Amino acid sequence: MDINIRNFEQADYERCEELVNEAWQFDKIFADKTLGKTALRLYTKAGLCSGNVNLVALCNGRLVGFLFGFNTADKTMPRGKIKLALDAIFSFNFKKMDKIERNKFLTAVTSHNKNRAEIEPNKSSEICLFVVSQDSRGYNIGTKLWEKFRDSCLATGVKRIRVETNLHGASSYYERQGFMLVSNFDSALHGLATPKGQACMYEYIVKNGI
Ligand SMILES: CC(C)(COP(=O)(O)OP(=O)(O)OC[C@H]1O[C@@H](n2cnc3c(N)ncnc32)[C@H](O)[C@@H]1OP(=O)(O)O)[C@@H](O)C(=O)NCCC(=O)NCCS
Repeated sequence: MDINIRNFEQADYERCEELVNEAWQFDKIFADKTLGKTALRLYTKAGLCSGNVNLVALCNGRLVGFLFGFNTADKTMPRGKIKLALDAIFSFNFKKMDKIERNKFLTAVTSHNKNRAEIEPNKSSEICLFVVSQDSRGYNIGTKLWEKFRDSCLATGVKRIRVETNLHGASSYYERQGFMLVSNFDSALHGLATPKGQACMYEYIVKNGI
């Protein structure tokens, strides 16, 4: 497989959203389709806007994976957070959607953020959003994206990289890459996509001669 890793470009966005849906099934976990589409868009854009090292993987010109990462030492500022907040306010208040399901989702987001902030009070370098398409998994594409992000952190003197994941999701993948569990935390948000799943925070200590 001929894999090319390059920086994210705006034209890549739709495909990234498609991969997020494929990974977490936003179109199936919400009964209200407008809410599902809104949650998918805001979740994908939140990952993109949180990152300043946003990478995509191409195989024969087709986008097959991406990693949106935040490097605290990189001078590039993440962009688009204000526009995202306005989009969220407009969508949840003015779009026609099931209010009970919407409120359940917003409560899950709020409690997720609160519980996460208790174990992660300071902003760290982080893998914000990371997906490889189902039919391209297991070909080392994820590892190539991760190593490129890790190397950008190493080159700029970052000491640790965090990632929020799920024990029933990619936690064993991160352990294989050398991450260690920091803490579990409760998340009704994870529960939507991974029933009985356990949200957790992992950390990678960046060092030379990896
Ligand atoms: C996690 C993910 C990005 C890895 O991408 P990938 O391209 O399949 O990873 P690689 O091919 O580089 O995997 C390297 C090794 O890890 C293993 N691996 C991949 N995903 C794994 C997972 N979820 N759990 C455990 N091991 C995993 C591979 O089998 C491979 O093992 P091998 O070297 O013995 O063959 C991909 O599985 C994915 O998109 N998962 C769904 C979304 C997700 O959970 N993202 C992370 C959110 S925090």
